[in-house]
Amino acid sequence: MRIFSGIKPTGDSTLGNYSGGFRQYVATQELGDATFCIVDLHAITVPYDPADLHSRTLDLFSMLIATGLDPERTTVFAQSHVTAHAEASWLLSAVAGYGQLGRMTQFKEKGGEQEFVASALFNYPVLMAGDILLYQADIVPIGDDQRQHLELARDIAERFNSRFGEIFTVPNGFYPEVGARIMSLQDPAAKMGKTGSSEQGTVRMLDAPDAILKKFKTAVTDSGREVRKADDKPGISNLIDIMSVATGSTPAQIEAEYGDAGYGTFKVAVGEAVVALLEPIRERYVELRSDEGELLRLLALGADKARATSAPTLERMYETMGFVRARDGA
Ligand code: TRP
Repeated sequence: MRIFSGIKPTGDSTLGNYSGGFRQYVATQELGDATFCIVDLHAITVPYDPADLHSRTLDLFSMLIATGLDPERTTVFAQSHVTAHAEASWLLSAVAGYGQLGRMTQFKEKGGEQEFVASALFNYPVLMAGDILLYQADIVPIGDDQRQHLELARDIAERFNSRFGEIFTVPNGFYPEVGARIMSLQDPAAKMGKTGSSEQGTVRMLDAPDAILKKFKTAVTDSGREVRKADDKPGISNLIDIMSVATGSTPAQIEAEYGDAGYGTFKVAVGEAVVALLEPIRERYVELRSDEGELLRLLALGADKARATSAPTLERMYETMGFVRARDGA
């Protein structure tokens, strides 16, 4: 089975990203042939700072490795290192409908916020479809907010297959459920780490241990006393989910263990479990991030593997679409 996902190099990674992303990527390494792409080309679709893009690309790569992706076994690379992505995007734009692209919720939302809307934002889902289709991915682990884009990638694959020739695997989205939604510690109705959620409610992957403990101590809890998951106790339910992510115990096991403890005791225990989870990750990250030579070496390794995997599909795209191919060396 082939697994592919793309991750945007934007902002500091949070515990929410870990729960819904990083740890899921690591788990997929056991399922088959996994490829993870840092989608730097997607990052330029909204206004951005070039210096930020540069550092965030290396930040994210370091975090992907620090959280457990094995760069030897799994392919981890930067999208701009493999020119097939930009090429596939142009070729696929021949079978991507203008009307359908205009109906993408994310385009309408993000486009509506900006004075200048880059055409790259409109074409964003075509580039994403190319990412996936170049690797003949069966499964795409992805956030719920990307459902519409994944549907579009499937439509593009089907349209290409029937118009030019059956060359693409039609991919399936995989939307992780368990612990995918870690909420803000200050506002359990808001996803952790989304813009607008408070700093105090957001645990960052690189927060120092005392900062993490403080955030958990001041987490909002509900009325009542029992440590029990329930719809009317969103604060405690969220802490139980976080404890489950940090320790691997099920919510039922956590309720059994802490059922009689007060909220204060439980908040401290969750904070300590999160520190224990994140400390080794932070140490690996800091070591790796400080060694740019090693990062570039590992990125080159990933790019080589990604080029080798995607090249035959790109070649078939050109051929079935009728292009005259240049002779080797021409
Ligand atoms: N659009 C995705 C997001 O915002 C990122 C992405 C780009 C992606 N290309 C992809 C995800 C290919 C999965 C597969 O999260």
